[in-house]
Amino acid sequence: MTLAPDAVRVAEPLPWGRHYAAVSPDHFRVDYVINPFMDPARQPDPRYARRQWERMVGALRGLGARVDVLGQRPDSPDMVYAMNLGLAVASADGTDRRVVMSRMRYAERRAEGLSAAPWFAGRGARAVELAGEASFEAGDAFAFGGELVVGHGPRTAEPALHALAAELEVRVRGVRIVHPSMYHLDLAFQPLDSRRAMVCPAALDPASAEALLALVPEPLVLSEEEALTFVANSVVVDRTVLAPACPPRVREVLEGWGFTVVLLDVSEFHKGGGSVRCLTNPLDLRLGRDLAVVPGGEVLLA
Ligand code: ARG
Repeated sequence: MTLAPDAVRVAEPLPWGRHYAAVSPDHFRVDYVINPFMDPARQPDPRYARRQWERMVGALRGLGARVDVLGQRPDSPDMVYAMNLGLAVASADGTDRRVVMSRMRYAERRAEGLSAAPWFAGRGARAVELAGEASFEAGDAFAFGGELVVGHGPRTAEPALHALAAELEVRVRGVRIVHPSMYHLDLAFQPLDSRRAMVCPAALDPASAEALLALVPEPLVLSEEEALTFVANSVVVDRTVLAPACPPRVREVLEGWGFTVVLLDVSEFHKGGGSVRCLTNPLDLRLGRDLAVVPGGEVLLA
């Protein structure tokens, strides 16, 4: 099987991203500070937040995506950021579905999995604990070019990359995050199709930025300023990019490539440091299609 990006000459839409988990914002608050955006003095308005979240879910469903909703635990104000619950990966034939549960870096988020694991299990996906003790947050992980690209540093710890490679039997490409405001890879990287992705090199150390740019045949390179609008924290369904914001230059490139940009205001959720991608978690990644199977697994570090 060849999933190497240089072999991919035609820009095909992403085959995944048609099925999501999302957490209904029943108890969304900013109670503590674990990233530079959070300030307990600036609380989200619960009704406004719910309206924004409902519009986002409606937009996804309007594009034909399926969205499954789980409730939020009262003790887990950050649980709305569903992306961080875990990484869902199905076997090639789709019969064996696994969710590699996150092992959150901060204690404040560790109760989320207590509800998420049984919820996934109830929907026929095994909740799997990563071997070892290293932290892993699924907002750091993306399939691209047949590899699992994983950001490490602020949240995911490097040893988790080896555990992930062994668990899933895939090639894990580690990139080191060095920017305090792009503490998850999904704030600096967003696959668009089989050849293209948004990449913010300023989020990464120089060797990692170079490695990630080399993996993407046609990168849409974001400046630090552009990335800090949260544009990379968007969701792509076929040729539509659901984005919380889109700087004019970025929009021009996306539209030039045939994408439609739909803006979604999720400003209340920016108070917790997350946006559209963080609020959703794709459940339809497949081994053999989106991630090449590498027996035993392999880790590449820049
Ligand atoms: N307050 C949350 C945290 O710091 C925000 C998570 C954002 N999620 C994401 N996938 N980037 O953990």
